[in-house]
Amino acid sequence: MPRAAPYAMQDIPCQATQRGRSRFSTRRSLLAAAPLLPWLASARAADPIVLRFSHVVAPNTPKGRAAEQFRLLAESRTQGRVRVEVHPNSELYTDRDELEALQLGAVQMLAPSTAKFAPLGLHEFEVFDLPYVFADYDALRRVTRGEVGQRLLRRLQPKGIVGLGFWDNGFKQMSANKPLRVAADYAGLTMRVQPSEVIKAQMRALGARPRVMAFSEAVPALRAGAVDGTENPTSNFLTQRFDTVQSHLTLTDHGYLGYALIVNARFWNGLPRDIRAALDSAAADATRYANEIAKQVNDEALAEIERAGRTRVLRLTPTERGLLQQALWPVHQQMRGRVGGDLLDAIYRETGQGLGRRTAAG
Ligand code: SIN
Repeated sequence: MPRAAPYAMQDIPCQATQRGRSRFSTRRSLLAAAPLLPWLASARAADPIVLRFSHVVAPNTPKGRAAEQFRLLAESRTQGRVRVEVHPNSELYTDRDELEALQLGAVQMLAPSTAKFAPLGLHEFEVFDLPYVFADYDALRRVTRGEVGQRLLRRLQPKGIVGLGFWDNGFKQMSANKPLRVAADYAGLTMRVQPSEVIKAQMRALGARPRVMAFSEAVPALRAGAVDGTENPTSNFLTQRFDTVQSHLTLTDHGYLGYALIVNARFWNGLPRDIRAALDSAAADATRYANEIAKQVNDEALAEIERAGRTRVLRLTPTERGLLQQALWPVHQQMRGRVGGDLLDAIYRETGQGLGRRTAAG
């Protein structure tokens, strides 16, 4: 009777946020309902397996669209034996608590940015945050599709998590209520960042103060003046309405924002084989889809930001870009110990990046 929710009792969220708690039964109320369980079990034998996929961005972003693609593929390839519920925009969990919710089984699938794995003790995922570590998508793919990417996904296993692949968002741009062209323009600004030591070091290298906050808190904090600026790809910038609270956006492409598609291992490994095979293929195809559409979604968002005209978009000259790279390059050396020297060297080998940049920056 594989579909009668084998995870029902053990997977009740107990430490998750108020937001999450309000939507799920507590362990206590489930125990109180124990006499009804045999009836419930037979009533539920034909019910679909429910897979909750929580994320923090808007539906019309690379991640939002790929999550929807996964839902469509998963439901059709299992002939409805699996129902995927996609919860966007932090409506179930913020990025602060979604990993805990996954580990507890309150949700089954997530795609957190690789900047958010530190609570699991997996600092090596922050290697993706290093400034200018990937020259372009080809360099990135050599890492995510190669041995390095697989090695990183395997690191999730002891945490009760299965890593299924990497999804792009894209390259990040800097924003503030002033033009940001050279490092000196960032001096004294407070910048909202994701909880990654590498991103914090990047902001400090520019003379700015990093302030970690959840994605859902960024726009309110900018509106209140608690922070001055931030960084994100244009799809997130547009769909979260950063353009209503930031007067300038500089196309720096200084760092990468991507996601690891992950599932709760107990859920995944407890699935009937045919169902898991169907979901595996849905995840692989959704991954391909995510990585095919991401650049275009960001290009379209940039065009829309420019068309709407609320935020002025600045393009760096080659000299300005070179100076920014030079200011940020020392972050690689500073963060080598945190992300792991071997891993960083393996990435330099894959991308051919490290040596050239090191030489250029002296
Ligand atoms: C996301 O794209 O999932 C969120 C990015 C952020 O927190 O800045």
